[in-house]
Amino acid sequence: MDYQGALEVVAAAVRSQVGQGQVAQYIPALAAVEAGQFGMAVADMNGDVYGVGDWEEPFSVQSISKTFSLALVLARDGEAIWQRVGREPSGNAFNSLVQLEYENGVPRNPFINAGALVVTDRLQTLTDDASTTLLDFLRAESDNPDLAFDPAVALSETEHGDRNAALAHFMASYGNLENPVPTVLQHYFWQCSIRMSCRDLALAGGFLARHGLRADGGRLLSRREAKQVNAVMLTCGTYDAAGNFAYRVGLPGKSGVGGGIVAVIPGRCTLCVWSPGLDERGNSVAGVAALDHFTTLTGWSVF
Ligand code: DON
Repeated sequence: MDYQGALEVVAAAVRSQVGQGQVAQYIPALAAVEAGQFGMAVADMNGDVYGVGDWEEPFSVQSISKTFSLALVLARDGEAIWQRVGREPSGNAFNSLVQLEYENGVPRNPFINAGALVVTDRLQTLTDDASTTLLDFLRAESDNPDLAFDPAVALSETEHGDRNAALAHFMASYGNLENPVPTVLQHYFWQCSIRMSCRDLALAGGFLARHGLRADGGRLLSRREAKQVNAVMLTCGTYDAAGNFAYRVGLPGKSGVGGGIVAVIPGRCTLCVWSPGLDERGNSVAGVAALDHFTTLTGWSVF
């Protein structure tokens, strides 16, 4: 497969969509990002990585971090987390409160904000430092020791974090958090603030294409667990747009409001695309279009 050639075809095809949509506004430190950027990378099963455009430019991973924190909890704790968070699409916005009350403080899935807070809470209990554990893992998998938190983004989100604080307090009232709300929020905001490039994320998500095997050949997840994470990405990774994402792209994918999307072709490769302009559901406009083109061009999807 000529990955480099395919990436260049895809980048040319989506050029007119780069800059469309809106850069995330509700975290002020993200609102300043230049919308006209686009990068895309593919990491194959051997860890060889190919890229186009701004593929080496770091950006805020935001909700993409939720995939990795879930994997770290499953790796340490097995299936116990599913007692505290479901795995059904929510059909609601990623930061919605509405389902939590009538579902007794148990979030629909680990990728909406409420579910991710539960996962981070568990990772905090298991490691005593959830966000640093995650950063160390991402550094190792992407072979990039320079990966770092972005304090300005973490503080900006903390200052404007009333919605996430509400979700966390509400779940705490149902006994669905093990750690104090401020601790959970702090680790969640810092994990979301990590800056990575398309290159870094395509490599870091390699274990999902390798059926659970890490970059060094060690096992993070069983084959079954890797299948499970990919399945939840497919059904819930792009929130209330997951149906449309599956329809257009046909791959497990996880988006973030920084404009990145990681997508997995199990047994073949991991992709990451980034372009900061978002649609109204919080997914990158040019990013979804690029993945749509990639799977159409290659004929590779899970379907
Ligand atoms: O908690 C938040 O709202 C952000 N830190 C992350 C949201 C996000 O990335 C949703 N993705 N599309």
